[in-house]
Amino acid sequence: MFLTVKKYSTESPEETMEVGYHLGQLLGPGDVVCLYGELGTGKTVLVKGIARAFGIRERDIASASFTIVTEYATSPPFAHVDLYRIERTEELAEIGIWEQVGAEGITVIEWAEKAEGLLPDERIAVFIRAVDETVRDITIEGLHEKDRDYIENRSS
Ligand SMILES: Nc1ncnc2c1ncn2[C@@H]1O[C@H](COP(=O)(O)OP(=O)(O)OP(=O)(O)O)[C@@H](O)[C@H]1O
Ligand SMILES: [Mg+2]
Repeated sequence: MFLTVKKYSTESPEETMEVGYHLGQLLGPGDVVCLYGELGTGKTVLVKGIARAFGIRERDIASASFTIVTEYATSPPFAHVDLYRIERTEELAEIGIWEQVGAEGITVIEWAEKAEGLLPDERIAVFIRAVDETVRDITIEGLHEKDRDYIENRSS
């Protein structure tokens, strides 16, 4: 398997959302997107952009990490998972989504490092790093755009 790496540098939340939207447009059923980055780097902002590609409104994506899983009845179904509040691996078992991760829906996971081992090898990993107050380095690994022409064609 090839590892494709794309890098972006954004200077505002809006630009990060655009990167997310572009990524979202390339996603298809079964895709799992894992987001890695410190507190407040912009993971949720990126999720808002990804979700927009599925017609989900920005305000419907929760920024507070109180809800661990939010599912949207889009087509394909979209799940936003935020594992920030998970403290022990055992708690992961109580989240009843693992059997459907990588199935027919799209799954986007914040703090995915807390679920290593439960996640499929075939996944898209996004690393976000705050350079300063407004600049973010975003690295997207494992997205094979060439393979995704069929998805691009979907909307044309
Ligand atoms: N270039 C940028 N991209 C994204 N967010 C930015 C950028 N510049 C500034 N910000 C700010 O950084 C914050 C990112 O918040 P966000 O909730 O998305 O972070 P998070 O990584 O999801 O945090 P948490 O770990 O708490 O879930 C927002 O306040 C946003 O306005
Ligand atoms: Mg967040």
